[in-house]
Amino acid sequence: MEKRDLLYEGKGKRLYKTDDENLLISVFKDDLTAFNAQKTGSEEGKGALNCKISTQLFHLLEENGIKTHLVKTLDDSSQLVRRVDIIPLEVVVRNIATGSLTKRLGIEDGKKLPFSLVEFYYKDDSLNDPLVNDEHCLMMDLVKSESDLEELKRLGREINFILKSFFEKRGLNLVDFKVEFGTDKDNNILLSDEISPDSCRFWDIKTNKKLDKDRFRQGLGDVKVAYEEVLKRILEK
Ligand code: TMP
Ligand code: ASP
Repeated sequence: MEKRDLLYEGKGKRLYKTDDENLLISVFKDDLTAFNAQKTGSEEGKGALNCKISTQLFHLLEENGIKTHLVKTLDDSSQLVRRVDIIPLEVVVRNIATGSLTKRLGIEDGKKLPFSLVEFYYKDDSLNDPLVNDEHCLMMDLVKSESDLEELKRLGREINFILKSFFEKRGLNLVDFKVEFGTDKDNNILLSDEISPDSCRFWDIKTNKKLDKDRFRQGLGDVKVAYEEVLKRILEK
């Protein structure tokens, strides 16, 4: 599959057109950003690690009935994906309180939540991706219908259920994560974007060590070492 014009450049990936209008090539970048790109950096090899991690997790989710945009991997840091219209919502699922949840509501950091919390954030950098509720989503036509909104929540919870137990068996707590969805030409909702330590929080069950982008956000160092550890755990049988 030939890589053609650049269609879109995000913070973590570049999307290229191909000779098939329904397929795109997604190339994972080494760049790291945090706090709406007020903090930036780069780690050689991070893109390839995220590509491998995301590919493994998308395969796991596909095996468990979640439809995704992934067609196949092309090389170390690129994937062939189905072209979708991205729903402009970040769907965040949380099992343990940390990050913006503790800041916004004063909940103690590290507190186990009584149930998995699903939140929507409106994807708009100029507004700093604000938290929105169901009615905001409908009022602003961010989704086509109330049933699509319910489907996004159901998919978020289902993905959490599958990933949480997968990582628990590998000694990692899935603290929270962000996923994005898109609709294909037949109006199917497909899991898109990526699932990686850039978009999830992983804490080692025994030591509580952070093995995700918080190492970069909080200047803890050893970012790549942490991402390598996550991939190693994923590949454990
Ligand atoms: P938060 O606590 O900063 O709201 O983040 C919740 C989860 O969403 C966490 O796993 C990191 C992920 N996330 C992204 O992937 N991209 C973002 O832009 C933000 C703000 C969070
Ligand atoms: N990815 C977002 C940014 O670049 C925020 C974050 O992950 O902290 O600003």
